[in-house]
Amino acid sequence: MELTNILAGWYDKKYQLVIGNIIKGFTITKKLGEGRFGKVYLAEKNNKKIIIKQLKHEAIFKQSHKIKFEVSTLKDIAYLKDKRFPRYLGKFKLPHIRGYILEYKTGKTMEHIIFRDKMKFSRAEIYNFALQILDMVDILHAHNIVHKDIRIPNLILENDELYLIDFGLARYIDNKKYKTDLDFWYLGDFMIHLFYTNYDKSPLIDKPWYKQLDLTPKELILLKRLMRVNKEKYPPFKNTKDIRNIIKKLIKSI
Ligand SMILES: Nc1ncnc2c1ncn2[C@@H]1O[C@H](COP(=O)(O)OP(=O)(O)OP(=O)(O)O)[C@@H](O)[C@H]1O
Ligand SMILES: [Mg+2]
Repeated sequence: MELTNILAGWYDKKYQLVIGNIIKGFTITKKLGEGRFGKVYLAEKNNKKIIIKQLKHEAIFKQSHKIKFEVSTLKDIAYLKDKRFPRYLGKFKLPHIRGYILEYKTGKTMEHIIFRDKMKFSRAEIYNFALQILDMVDILHAHNIVHKDIRIPNLILENDELYLIDFGLARYIDNKKYKTDLDFWYLGDFMIHLFYTNYDKSPLIDKPWYKQLDLTPKELILLKRLMRVNKEKYPPFKNTKDIRNIIKKLIKSI
């Protein structure tokens, strides 16, 4: 254990890391989030930042079969050296504490940009982001990985480029429980969030998105197919190629 940790009182009574703890020479400076399986911290050394994920006790002892996927899927795609996904930088083990370290991606989450910065997105931007997500989804699906959590807090934006983080729910495609279309649903959900940035009336809770948003008939069909609304009338997508073609046509029609 690093000496500085002992001096800092080390972790708290519940064996949680605290600000000031040092892992592999990096000092924890901020707590970023807490999910089902663990807590996420930012740690720094000489202005270099990393992400520390501490696993929860229950997760380690009762759900160990569920916590391995973030590491194993990120390891599977590491050889690509694709900057759109965080690199896995190793694991750490301390008395009562276990976790792993990921590369830190600079930028802001889309959640921050939408809800705190209150940024509004044009159609061109929404389609461009959708194509970027499809490119990432293609790479993951080609490696037999379905992400299952492509939501606004898990997408980081920097200089108009999207980065996908949080592989905590990712699984290997088995075409039964874990199918590629789960990621298509999230693409639709993401686009709807962006369309709502232009919606200035107060959202009506009892009305679904397709009755509130100001969408063209073609956009409505695209989103209903992605979101599996009325499957008989709007057949769900089977591959990304069809989704991409429709979006490209929509871009041309702007
Ligand atoms: N690699 C990263 N680079 C930059 N920021 C990150 C990175 N990983 C996580 N974060 C930040 O920490 C937050 C929480 O991390 P993450 O989404 O991975 O876990 P979680 O949602 O708390 O837990 P779960 O794994 O259960 O979904 C993110 O929304 C993001 O703000
Ligand atoms: Mg998350």
